[in-house]
Amino acid sequence: MTNPRIEVFDDAAALARAVAGDLLARLDAAQDDGGSPQIALTGGSIAERIHVEIGRAGPSSDVDWGRVVVWWGDERFVATDSDERNAIGARRSFLDRVGIPADLIHEVAATDTAGSVADAAAAYARELREHGSGAFEVLMLGIGPDGHCASLFPGHPALDVDDQVAVALTDSPKPPPERVSLTFGALNRTRAVWFVASGEGKAEAVARGLAPEGSPGATVHETPARGVTGSPTTEVVWYLDRPAASRL
Ligand code: 6PG
Repeated sequence: MTNPRIEVFDDAAALARAVAGDLLARLDAAQDDGGSPQIALTGGSIAERIHVEIGRAGPSSDVDWGRVVVWWGDERFVATDSDERNAIGARRSFLDRVGIPADLIHEVAATDTAGSVADAAAAYARELREHGSGAFEVLMLGIGPDGHCASLFPGHPALDVDDQVAVALTDSPKPPPERVSLTFGALNRTRAVWFVASGEGKAEAVARGLAPEGSPGATVHETPARGVTGSPTTEVVWYLDRPAASRL
């Protein structure tokens, strides 16, 4: 991991516009060599604001949306058309607006398309192994007040899974309880990790996420966001609004 870059914005709207602009620029640059960059989206409220900004600016950008592949770092195991699904909001605000081909969007299976959350996790892992490019161009991650990212929560056994690409949870402390999450091993195969956090409620988790090794609460088990560092050359950026950065 390169030293994290911290970008602080006056408010969530400015944060969302900045992340959207940076993503469009990075995708355009990644396509210069003819590539099809793969990105992993996250769920949550600030992510939804970012999706809206990408959906607004994306159609007129230089990005060739026929060459962008989309994954999710985690997904809730609910019905395909449930508003609780991360994919639903991303499609409505972003993916449908820029017109990414359906076969380039890799959703986690839902309660109406998989027999169980374990089956959904296994299928998603197979799909990533088969259609993944080995590293995301950008992995976006929200962070919870408890320091979770994706659906990797403090003290959860999923944090220690190192022989799977994706895990199934049935006891998520953040509702809904059933989820599929990429594991640290899969999340860390990325050229860039962009954490996005807005609001005073995230300030403590952000501070723990960026604290020096050995600081109180700064283990991966206590603050799972610390477990996503990529490789030694991965770009790590924390996009924060002022309230979320207030404990730094
Ligand atoms: C999920 C998300 C989760 C989210 C954080 C932040 O499926 O719930 O992937 O990891 O990103 O909990 O969510 P908020 O931005 O809504 O606080």
